[in-house]
Amino acid sequence: MKSRSPYKFGKGTLLAALDVGSSKTACFIGRAVDDAGTFEVLGVGHHASQGIKSGTITDLNAAETCIRQTVHAAENMAADIMKGYPLREVVVNLPGVHATSHAHTASIRVAGHEITDNDVRRALSKAQQRVVSNEYELIHTIPAGYRIDGHEGIREPRGMVGQTMDVDIHMVTGEMGALRNMAACIERSHLDITALCVSAYAAGLAVLVEDEVDLGCTVIDIGGGVTSFAVFQGGALIYCDAVPIGGKHITSDIAKGLTTSLRDAERLKILYGGAMAGGMDENELIDVPRIGEDEYAEPNHVPRSLLIGIIQPRVEEIFDLVRARLSDSGLGPALGRRVVLTGGGSQMPGLKDLARHVLDKQIRLGKPIHLSGLPDAVSGPAFATTAGLLTYISGHADEMPAEIMAQAEPGSLWERVRHWLHENW
Ligand SMILES: Nc1ncnc2c1ncn2[C@@H]1O[C@H](COP(=O)(O)OP(=O)(O)OP(=O)(O)O)[C@@H](O)[C@H]1O
Ligand SMILES: [Mg+2]
Repeated sequence: MKSRSPYKFGKGTLLAALDVGSSKTACFIGRAVDDAGTFEVLGVGHHASQGIKSGTITDLNAAETCIRQTVHAAENMAADIMKGYPLREVVVNLPGVHATSHAHTASIRVAGHEITDNDVRRALSKAQQRVVSNEYELIHTIPAGYRIDGHEGIREPRGMVGQTMDVDIHMVTGEMGALRNMAACIERSHLDITALCVSAYAAGLAVLVEDEVDLGCTVIDIGGGVTSFAVFQGGALIYCDAVPIGGKHITSDIAKGLTTSLRDAERLKILYGGAMAGGMDENELIDVPRIGEDEYAEPNHVPRSLLIGIIQPRVEEIFDLVRARLSDSGLGPALGRRVVLTGGGSQMPGLKDLARHVLDKQIRLGKPIHLSGLPDAVSGPAFATTAGLLTYISGHADEMPAEIMAQAEPGSLWERVRHWLHENW
């Protein structure tokens, strides 16, 4: 994906990504190793999330404490390089459950002159006015393709000549309430939001190779409380959505189905779980601690097939919902044939086969590939969103509406978010 970022990432620029998830909150501090914005990771912190449920902040104080602890851990690891300067600017994820995709086309007259950056911004700005409201705020404005005098397939119109230019634009808005709560937690932690990026978009930026982004690919990120998905085509994000179900729901099903505690259910899921039954599962017995009994009490012995029999329908439900949403999106053939799975929940054995069965696509598992210096413990699929936030800000900051709107009207999103905060907290 080509970068036209207005941000200049000189070698040595320090930047932090903050991924506030339903299961864990994670922070990566990165340093640009070149002027193109390639990052190496210097500090990482992660912590079991508190005060957030299925992507929604439910307790500001708890979420703030968790964010603060996570950021401190990353700062401590990067202390030698940061030389006592605390972190200020962070790129933050927007959970997919609070985001909405909008596809619009904007047309402008260029009257035979060479198309400039300003013309492109004028077209994007025109489209942006159509989705701005009091309840939703723009998060991404992504040009998906241009036409000049009706000629299709133009990816870069600047410098070309024509009478009219049409731009197909994909915009993503975020719910104002969710944004304000997120911004409040972050401000209270003495951090400034540099940019927001929808979780599944960031996950895609972290794990996809260029051909996948060009030819068409869907990333499905199975997190703790949310399964979010993002469709890429022609080098750009063209759709995103989410369903509020994730790994925690599987754990809860196991706890109920096997009458054991949530903690033991989570352990059983990680150790013995599977998304599809295999031939030997009937004979393999697993120990299930009884709820409320002490650790010396005799556990129940149940066949592994029973555990898988609880997990499978829930995972099927998740993929069925994703398939239905994708089919309702009207994208049709633009969806492509490939699906890449990320998120902690994607580590379930058998998930790839079940996804292939339900979605009828080519499936692969994804993990972050574009960052250097990632410690092993945070290099897996659960950290795809965190990693992708750094990729987003370095390569796609020109998709931030504030950058485009700055031309059209004074006051950026981030200034407005701060304004609400000062009024309300
Ligand atoms: N090996 C595994 N097998 C199955 N599930 C797993 C495994 N490892 C982690 N998980 C599940 O992954 C989920 C957490 O994933 P992740 O860290 O991506 O969530 P999150 O980003 O905090 O949440 P969200 O994106 O939904 O807000 C948990 O439900 C956990 O049980
Ligand atoms: Mg997540």
